[in-house]
Amino acid sequence: MMMALREASAFLVLFLSTFLPPPQCAQDPAMVHYIYQRFQVLEQGLAKCTQATRAYIQEFQDFSKNISVMLGRCLAYTSEYKSAVDSLATKVERAQREVDYLEYLRESEVCVESEDKILAEKLLQEAEEEKKIRTLLNASCNNMLMGIKSLKIVKKTMDTDGSWMKDGVSDSPKVYFLIGSRNNTVLEFPNLRAFMEDSTKPAPRKLILTHSWQGTGHVIYKGFLFFHNQGTPNEIIKYNLQKRAVGDRMRLPGGAGRSLVYQHSPSTYIDLAVDEHGLWAIHSGPGIYGHLVLTKIEPGSLGVEYSWDTSCRSQDAEASFLLCGVLYVVYSSSGHGPHRITCVFDPLGTVSEEHLPNLFFPRRQRSHSVIHYNPRDKQLYAWNDGNQIIYKLQTKRKLHVE
Ligand SMILES: *[C@@H]1O[C@H](CO)[C@@H](O)[C@H](O)[C@H]1NC(C)=O
Ligand SMILES: *[C@@H]1O[C@H](CO)[C@@H](O)[C@H](O)[C@H]1NC(C)=O
Ligand SMILES: *[C@@H]1O[C@H](CO)[C@@H](O)[C@H](O)[C@H]1NC(C)=O
Repeated sequence: MMMALREASAFLVLFLSTFLPPPQCAQDPAMVHYIYQRFQVLEQGLAKCTQATRAYIQEFQDFSKNISVMLGRCLAYTSEYKSAVDSLATKVERAQREVDYLEYLRESEVCVESEDKILAEKLLQEAEEEKKIRTLLNASCNNMLMGIKSLKIVKKTMDTDGSWMKDGVSDSPKVYFLIGSRNNTVLEFPNLRAFMEDSTKPAPRKLILTHSWQGTGHVIYKGFLFFHNQGTPNEIIKYNLQKRAVGDRMRLPGGAGRSLVYQHSPSTYIDLAVDEHGLWAIHSGPGIYGHLVLTKIEPGSLGVEYSWDTSCRSQDAEASFLLCGVLYVVYSSSGHGPHRITCVFDPLGTVSEEHLPNLFFPRRQRSHSVIHYNPRDKQLYAWNDGNQIIYKLQTKRKLHVE
């Protein structure tokens, strides 16, 4: 473990000498992620050590988080970055002194686990994690996306932003219409036909929520509307549509809500999704246009089941959806299109970009306000420049690993 700490501080020194001087920016998020992971390993190893060491590691870890945030925007703030790195250099020096001290303590303390044991524990832990994920994602679906078969514009409005949907699980035919990116009024239509026809005859039911929503990331799951509570950075409200009351609420952890999920969707800080496996949340990780973080939520208790740092960037993204446990992210280089899926994230590692054909959406003038999959009818519900759109999909069976 002392070795691990030594290695990490040596790594930081190397890191510093690579990036400074000149003050070149590490725009490579994989590097940032790697640094952060090193600290996590350290933390695990040292958890059993003395209080003082733990406090020290905590500080080190906070610092690495700060650095990773700064790296994300360092092009714009080179001087801030530079002074942070200078201060890191001081800390690294101190770290090396601490390492020597820890080495001295080694014989007398509980801190005597061997590197091998830590490695073995880590492997065991990884195997358990994988098992946990497999159990979590064990619904009876086995499709992956192959293409967009057709587009149908079901309604046109003047509102650039908004969201519309059916319940992703229960077989209610009702259609819900949430106009704009901040409001508390939900329109409920008895079915798709009523939604498509002029909404004045018969008038839709108006539901006034107790809280307003923020963005366009809402979903309906088993009679509950889940939405980002406007005015909070990361609170998700679970609203009972039948009782017309808040059922429950949660705060999405992991720094959720600090920045936009997708660069080209200017009001959504937390996106939610429903697929065959259940309820999910997507937010952007640290740094400007960081990587997307995917979180699986237990819809009953609102507990976090698992969270993944994905390889998909928020930069140039406009929307994403989950289909059978795989995240598909839609990008458009300037927001105008072409709209194309160029990044997928599969927690089980079966589907990756090389399995995808050229996944283009039909060309549209503007980026989508939302694109959500409905696992019940297996199609996408989208909102583009005031148009409410259904995309029908082409899927095939997932390939099996091994
Ligand atoms: C990280 O940044 C916060 C806010 O800028 C600051 O209060 C804190 O001291 C920093 N932590 C470390 C270890 O530098
Ligand atoms: C997944 O579910 C099937 C039946 O639904 C079961 O046979 C299988 O053991 C489960 N796999 C895991 C890893 O839980
Ligand atoms: C909220 O939505 C209602 C109905 O869709 C609309 O009449 C109202 O102007 C909206 N309010 C705001 C603040 O956008």
